[in-house]
Formats: sequence, structure tokens, C-alpha cells
Amino acid sequence: MNDRILGISGPTVTVTLGRLRLYEMVLVGEARLIGEVVRLERDRAVVQVYENTRGLSVNESVLALERPLMARLGPGLLRGMFDGLQRPLERLRMESGPFISSGREMFPLDRERRWRFHPLAAPGDELSVGSLLGYVDEGNLRHMISASVPGILERIAEGELTLAESLGTCSDGTQLSGCIEWPVRRARPFRRKLPPATPLVTGQRSIDFLFPLAQGGTAIFPGGFGTGKTILEQSLAKFSQVDIVIYVGCGERGNEMAEVLEEFGTLNDPWSGRRLMERTVVVANTSNMPVAAREASIYTAVTMGEYYRDMGYHVLLLADSISRWAEALREISSSLEEMPGEEGYPTYLASRLAAFMERAGLVETLSGDFGSLTMVLSVSPPGGDFTEPVTQACLRSAGAFLMLDTSLAHRRHFPAINWFQSYSLYESKLTGEMAKRVAPAWEEMRRRCRDILQQEESLREVAEIVGIEGMQDSDRLLLRTAERIRTGFLAQNAYDADAFSPPEETLKRIMMIVSAHDRAGELLASGALLDDALLAGDEEREVNP
Ligand SMILES: Nc1ncnc2c1ncn2[C@@H]1O[C@H](COP(=O)(O)OP(=O)(O)O)[C@@H](O)[C@H]1O
Ligand SMILES: [Mg+2]
Repeated sequence: MNDRILGISGPTVTVTLGRLRLYEMVLVGEARLIGEVVRLERDRAVVQVYENTRGLSVNESVLALERPLMARLGPGLLRGMFDGLQRPLERLRMESGPFISSGREMFPLDRERRWRFHPLAAPGDELSVGSLLGYVDEGNLRHMISASVPGILERIAEGELTLAESLGTCSDGTQLSGCIEWPVRRARPFRRKLPPATPLVTGQRSIDFLFPLAQGGTAIFPGGFGTGKTILEQSLAKFSQVDIVIYVGCGERGNEMAEVLEEFGTLNDPWSGRRLMERTVVVANTSNMPVAAREASIYTAVTMGEYYRDMGYHVLLLADSISRWAEALREISSSLEEMPGEEGYPTYLASRLAAFMERAGLVETLSGDFGSLTMVLSVSPPGGDFTEPVTQACLRSAGAFLMLDTSLAHRRHFPAINWFQSYSLYESKLTGEMAKRVAPAWEEMRRRCRDILQQEESLREVAEIVGIEGMQDSDRLLLRTAERIRTGFLAQNAYDADAFSPPEETLKRIMMIVSAHDRAGELLASGALLDDALLAGDEEREVNP
């Protein structure tokens, strides 16, 4: 006999216990809404429903699916757009209109499409989990397919196959498939984790130069409303030097998401020249979609990311914004009548977030390759107050903290990354790495740039007291150079050609500003007037960039 609904409270329902297990998927009510068992009590189970619970009533039946929430992983994920349960948005929309009705489980991949499979394993091979079986070409990407069970390979297929067909057989009769399932709340395995040590170049000067990201690292950027979080996430999605981008639109406005998709369809990745969409997977649970699916969306996304990481690729997971995820968690928790912690968030908020961010990393994969999953999460603290729980919880796990500053955004300085408050724990390692990659001057210039900004800060107070006219020429020169660094180097307009700055250009640009400064400084020292010195420094800059 099926279980029955006992009570309904927002996105959660209580159900007779029956044989339900924790984290099992269920279909709730006559509408067969997808849900997940999130708590077992003595005589009842609590189910988090991934769809709108309006219309459900007590006593309707609940059907157990006998499996946890799974991601389906296989060729054809790239270019995909999914909801938080990995249902393809387009098919959802076609079948149920703009308001996703319920009850539909949908296979995320195309089971009829044929892929040319190139075997790399041969009959007689001893397979362990993660052993390479072969690959298919997914666009320009070599999509590696590996064994999900151990065994002795008896037969392996070759040529055009669909995901529904068997790729091979093990001696015990097990069929191998080109498509596997993985429970989204469980991290995928690897051999070992390594400390991040390679720069993840983003094309954003203030990040690459001052607060570098690492492959396999984590970064957060908190910022109040309008500080440029969404634009920055999008710029990272467009320009970062990675193999795969997983973009999670989490609880933000739907029209923003639609714009992203439209734009991505037309742009190329500056590194490979490939269409941007060809390396991108989008997971969208916008503000108009059910809250519980939003909670699941980041897990669905990270599981897909790990899957490509396990092929030896560098994956960037972007989520905008993790605060909306935390709000979904809070809403679910409150409907479960759990004891609230700080600001109503559940007491396990920080540990959940830490466990999620722990899934980032540079790893040696089960097949002996190296792959990475990097996370960059935007945070939207209410009122721009960084002491609130979500920002604080993220801070504890993040390797880089890029603080988006409301006053910079008001002055239209974008990206509004505050250069005093932000930091990257990867900076000492990566700066040397960039110096090797780009030019030795990278390190020296970085020091000079920070120095000048620091001096500007102390001079500001002086300027306020005595006025610009009352200052020494060398100080006035410094203020002017600092302004140039801010407006001509750190600021970067996302809407024009400057939106992407390769590291060589980044270095060239700062060198121009600093050498003009030095030249003018020398002239001042030899007795020139300030205006003449500035002019000469600028001319030098133009002749000798
Ligand atoms: N890099 C940038 N270049 C130019 N304008 C920007 C940039 N970043 C943000 N903006 C401006 O700020 C506005 C708000 O940015 P948005 O990313 O939507 O903020 P948030 O997501 O933090 O609320 C944008 O519509 C745009 O006008
Ligand atoms: Mg936004």
C-alpha cells in the first residue's frame, strides 16, 4: 500500500512512514509532484517537495521511487539548460507552458541521438571504477566514458550508438553504459586532492592581477543590490580560461537568465574560438520557480561539474546567488519547524555550505588524470551587511574573497571590487606562476600597483585637510597615477571591447601607467614643474608603450 499525506506546510509535506528511507525520492499526491524525504521521525516522514504544493490535500497517496535524487551523466549535457532537478527547460516548457506544472520526471539527455564511440579498452581488460572505456566527441570536447563498476571486460562496442545501447559487457554479464546516474548529494570519488597552484585566468584585470583565482579553488563575491554580481558572474562565464562552465542561476530574476542564454548563444570563447554554449551547462532555478528545487539545484550542478572534472577537465562552477539558495534552505527548515539559528537560518547552514564548497578542488582522477572544479559564488547580503550569516559562512570556506563595494558601484567603478578589503589566499603562489607565464615584471608591477593605491589612501586624508593645491608635487603626481590605476586599469567595462583583458594586455597596461609615473617623478626630482613633468611622462607613454 502507498503512503499517505498527513499534512502540508509550504514546500514540505508530512507523510505516513511506511518503508520510506532518508533522501529517497517520492511522487507526492495525485499530481505526482517530485519530492525527497528529508527527515524521518518516529511515526512519519517529512518530504521536501520540488514543485508547487498548492492543490495537494491530506490523504492523497505518496509513491516511493526507491532511489535518491540522481543526476544523469553522459554525452549531451553541454549546451544543456536544466532546472534544479536536471529536467531540460525547453522540453519542460514545451510540454507544460511557461509555468512548470508538475509531476514530470524527465530524462535530461537525448536517448535517441547517435554518438560515434571510440573504444580505448579491449576485451580481457580488468576494469576498476573510473577505468577508461572510450570516448565520444561532444562538440569539440573529447567526452571520456569510464567504467562505473569493476569487472573483466568481455565485449566492447564501437561506432554509432545511442545512450540507450550497451557499450560493452563484463564477464559477469554486467552491461556497461554511456550514461550513468549519480546521487547529487554525494561527492564523486577521486584518487587524491591537491592544493590549488595553477591560476585560473579570468580576463578581469582586478582579479587576475590583484586577487587571482586558482584552478580547483573557491571564491565568493558578496555585494549589495546593484553592485555588479550578475554582470561579474556572466563575465567570468564568458572569458575564463576553462574547459567547461556550469552556470547556476539560483533564485535570481528569470529575465536575467533569458538574457544570458540569448547572449551566450551568439558569443565565442576567446580562448578556443568555440561557441560559448558548446562549453556551457546552465542550471536555472529562477525566483519564479519552486523553492525546494532551488535548494537541489546547486547539487545537481556540482555533480555535473565533477563528472567533467573526472574526465580530466577544468570546470568552473558559477552560482548567482548562493544567498538565494540559503534562503530556500531557510524556508524549508522553517516549514519543518526546526530550531532556527541566526537570522532564522537553520543551525546547519554553515556546515552545509562548507560541505558543498568542499566539492571544489584540483584532483587526481580515478583514471590517473588531473581535473579541477573551481567555484565562484556570488552572495547577496541584505542591505550589503557582510556580518550576516551567509556571507560569514561562505567566508570560512572561501579561498578568495572579492568584496563588491556599494560606493564604488555608485561611482560606476565596475567591477566594484574593493582593493583594500578583498583578498586571495592563492595570491603568493599564483603571482609567481603568472610571472613565469607572462613576464617577470608581473610581480614587481603588482607590488608597485598596490603601493600606489595604498599611498593614495593615506594621502587622501592629507588632501582633505590642506586641499590638492597645498600638496607637494610628488604627492599630486601620486594621486593622479592612482586615479589612472583605478579608472584605466582596475575598472573594466563589461559592455565594450575591454570586457576581456588577456594577461599580457593586463601587464602592458599597468606598465604603461607605472612607467609614466616614474618618468614624471624623475623629471620632478630634477626640478621640472609638475605640469611639464606630467606632460613629459604622458608623451613617453605614448611613444614607448
Ligand atoms: N563591469 C561592468 N561594466 C559596466 N557596467 C556594469 C558592470 N558591472 C555592473 N554594471 C552595471 O551595474 C548594473 C547592476 O549590475 P548587476 O550585476 O545586475 O548587479 P547585482 O547582480 O549585484 O544586483 C548593471 O546593470 C550595469 O549597468
Ligand atoms: Mg544580480
